[in-house]
Amino acid sequence: MSELTTQAERRRTFAIISHPDAGKTTLTEKLLLYGGAIHLAGSVKSRKASRHAVSDWMEMEKTRGISITSSVLQFEHLGRAVNLLDTPGHADFSEDTYRTLSAVDSAVMLIDHAKGVEGRTLKLFEVCRLRGLPILTFMNKLDREGLDPLGLMDEIGEKLGGLRCFPINWPIGMGRDFKGVVDVRTREVFLFSNSKHGQERGVEERISFEEARERLGSLMDDIEEELDLLEMAGDGWDQQAFLDGKLSPVFWGSAMTNFGVAPFLDFLVESAPGPAPRETREDETITPDSPQFTGFIFKIQANMNPRHRDRIAFMRVVSGQFERGMDVKIGRSAEALRLSKPHSFMAQERSIVEEAWPGDIVGLYDPGKLRIGDTLSGGEAIQYKGIPRFAPEHFARLRLKDPLRRKQLASGLDQLSKEGAIQLFFRPEFGQQDPYLGAVGMLQYEVLIERLKNEYRVEAILEMTNFRLARWIGGDEKGLEWMKSRRDYPIVHDRTGQPVVLAESPWPLQYALRENPGMELFDVEPL
Ligand code: G4P
Repeated sequence: MSELTTQAERRRTFAIISHPDAGKTTLTEKLLLYGGAIHLAGSVKSRKASRHAVSDWMEMEKTRGISITSSVLQFEHLGRAVNLLDTPGHADFSEDTYRTLSAVDSAVMLIDHAKGVEGRTLKLFEVCRLRGLPILTFMNKLDREGLDPLGLMDEIGEKLGGLRCFPINWPIGMGRDFKGVVDVRTREVFLFSNSKHGQERGVEERISFEEARERLGSLMDDIEEELDLLEMAGDGWDQQAFLDGKLSPVFWGSAMTNFGVAPFLDFLVESAPGPAPRETREDETITPDSPQFTGFIFKIQANMNPRHRDRIAFMRVVSGQFERGMDVKIGRSAEALRLSKPHSFMAQERSIVEEAWPGDIVGLYDPGKLRIGDTLSGGEAIQYKGIPRFAPEHFARLRLKDPLRRKQLASGLDQLSKEGAIQLFFRPEFGQQDPYLGAVGMLQYEVLIERLKNEYRVEAILEMTNFRLARWIGGDEKGLEWMKSRRDYPIVHDRTGQPVVLAESPWPLQYALRENPGMELFDVEPL
């Protein structure tokens, strides 16, 4: 096997999706602990302080020089190279999170078992489903009382559009009685014991079901009943259905005490998929073992430090070997670029990368030439299909403090929208002037205002609108004409001139769809 194939097959690239407070930071840290990347949990700096206060976060951005929201954590486990892409940990939420999911091959859905499926998880799950991403589920906080495990599995199926679940293991007790998990397929029992409050790897004893019964008594009788029930109800493990994003393996544990982290990580590196092929705009499929290096940009992070105005573009390697100093072409413009100082990111530290393989994420210094969705290639210029934009949920306009800075504002907005910091929607009657700014999370606006001030010397005031929904209009043209003929459907144009309707509530959109059966409304930009 060539080194390229071996290296590509070794990669596991994933992200964790969850509702705030479900334990993403804690689980991330424990995965690093078990992956041997850190030796004492607690050494990855807590992002707690930054989570709620935007100003703190900006301050941290400045002092660290690189965004704390953009780390890629790399570690080795069982001979596999694991890339964990960190999604922003803020209570607020932005399009960055969506785009990060375009660069992974699987996602871990982390659920607080006392709360079940919460709003943010649902939203992120929808993004995963759109990509057909395989999803692993980790039920967290078993050291506390929670919902009935069988009921929780049903809830996932109901709330997540029929996603089927297969418990790979099953909890033995919960709260103070949480003793460990049973492997559902082999009925081997993993008993956990405390590990200095989760600071160090825990001790896991693997024993037979019979031995567990001797030690734990009647608790195991209940477990046996539940396992029999699961066996009768379930269809067995189907790896293909998992890879197709239709079946989710479920694990139980407590990230805080480390219980259940090891079997979960073992499964992840063994069974989650390696790097996926990607389609070009010409519908050609490029596989990771294609010798020509290719990659795409899924995120651009401008440095908030005014002294070093550098921008980092995050690239996911799709095929071939990436080497430091290589010359590449940008697919969009066929322009050449030398990648002289590529970086990898480990728990917020940068280090220079000499080489990278399919599945890896590399941070590139961007001289202002790169955009979200750009393809880079070592040989001929090619273009992968773009990264779709999702309909924003907030819409605002900007009022300039100094009307003479209008030109600077326009160029700032143009640049920042190309970086993906904000979406612009233009009103036909105003041309390029005074666009609506669409965002998924309010934090995006705060960052925008700050960056306009620092980088473009433009002071602007935000004026929120009541719009909550945007839908791209497709299907039968008559639908668009019907809406245009009425006064109550504001139609705007997106970055490529596609028509988009804005609304304050779903009702007018539902009415329009009823009146125009051939029309379609999309909450994701059609590419
Ligand atoms: P997030 O990144 O998803 O927002 O969650 P984070 O890991 O910060 O965890 C949120 C809270 O839940 C933290 O408590 C954390 O300690 C706790 N937590 C995480 N995993 C577990 C678990 O397995 N069991 C229990 N019981 N708690 C867990 P906090 O009080 O907000 O912070 P701290 O005082 O622990 O720092």
